[in-house]
Amino acid sequence: MSHNTFGHLFRVTTFGESHGAGIGCVVDGCPPRLPLEAADIQAELDRRRPGTSRFTTQRREPDEARLLSGVMTDDETGRQVTTGTPIAVFIENVDQRSKDYGDIRDKYRPGHADYAYDAKYGIRDYRGGGRSSARETAARVAAGAIARKVIPGVTIRGALVQMGALKIDREKWDWAEVARNPFFCPDAGAAERFADDLDAIRKAGSSIGAVVEVVAEGVPPGWGAPIYGKLDAELASALMSVNAVKGVELGDGFAVAELTGEENADEMRAGNDGKPRFLSNRAGGILGGISTGQPIVARFAVKPTSSILKARLTVTRAMEDTEIVTKGRHDPCVGIRAVPVGEAMVACVLADAFLRHRGQVG
Ligand SMILES: Cc1cc2nc3c(=O)[nH]c(=O)nc-3n(C[C@H](O)[C@H](O)[C@H](O)COP(=O)(O)O)c2cc1C
Repeated sequence: MSHNTFGHLFRVTTFGESHGAGIGCVVDGCPPRLPLEAADIQAELDRRRPGTSRFTTQRREPDEARLLSGVMTDDETGRQVTTGTPIAVFIENVDQRSKDYGDIRDKYRPGHADYAYDAKYGIRDYRGGGRSSARETAARVAAGAIARKVIPGVTIRGALVQMGALKIDREKWDWAEVARNPFFCPDAGAAERFADDLDAIRKAGSSIGAVVEVVAEGVPPGWGAPIYGKLDAELASALMSVNAVKGVELGDGFAVAELTGEENADEMRAGNDGKPRFLSNRAGGILGGISTGQPIVARFAVKPTSSILKARLTVTRAMEDTEIVTKGRHDPCVGIRAVPVGEAMVACVLADAFLRHRGQVG
């Protein structure tokens, strides 16, 4: 299966399947002499790890990251740093239970990639979806942790802003709250409502969709490129590549359709630092595909978990009508664990944009 690599100068390749020996990534093009410990990667992986609350899958994966290459101890500082060579990260699979999937080996799970993969490749990895499993997103998170080292002046934070029909109150947005509840939710009141709602959904054997917002602050003006290398296009592509993502918005996104020109254009006044001071940020920090210096704001919609305990209609590989109930352990709202994944994808795109900007403009 091709297309397992993304990025240009900061180039990420991921490998592995849900129920194989493990998963991982190779990051090529990372600049040398950046401090990097396995613990830096582990901290990010722990945020995505399953089994941390009753609102995520009970699959118990420690997701322990091993740094296989691309780092060594710097004699002068005694710190471990990148060498400029490919950085390989390996995460062992330790809690795979293929038997959970045995009774669905010949049935296509609705909402999953089963039929599409089989139609394309003619071989079916029924064990948790194989390569299409979102276990792969752990490798993205590992790459994102390395990307953050390339752009230390940029702060990239994500939050769950909607679950089903429930939305946060943006007036109550508190970034500190994100680390205090199991939803990565910036509004404490909304997190309580999410909990009640998701408990009911989980007990009913169902699932629910969500919207995640990622904000990158500290990106200077000038990153990204016009036309085919637009920063917003690259962010949209990266976020859309995440499992279960069905919509991406930058800035005000689809809401701009309802605006007039005077409402939409972000007005400017002369700032004290020789740069414009924008009076609003409907553009989400990007104009003409190039960063403006304003926060970059991306949102993505995550579909409800397809594997649910409620029986659904489907077909077998032999094209007979049947029903399916997906057992195994699944997230009732995959949007929650998609938050660190979204942050990681934004980090990788921005690290790549920074290196390309430095390469062309200095
Ligand atoms: C972090 C994360 C965890 C996920 N966990 C599950 C899960 O437990 N069960 C499930 O049915 N889908 C899960 N998904 C979604 C599937 O991986 C995805 O829907 C499937 O591979 C089909 O791909 P597509 O939705 O991108 O078309 C998860 C997605 C993400 C981002």
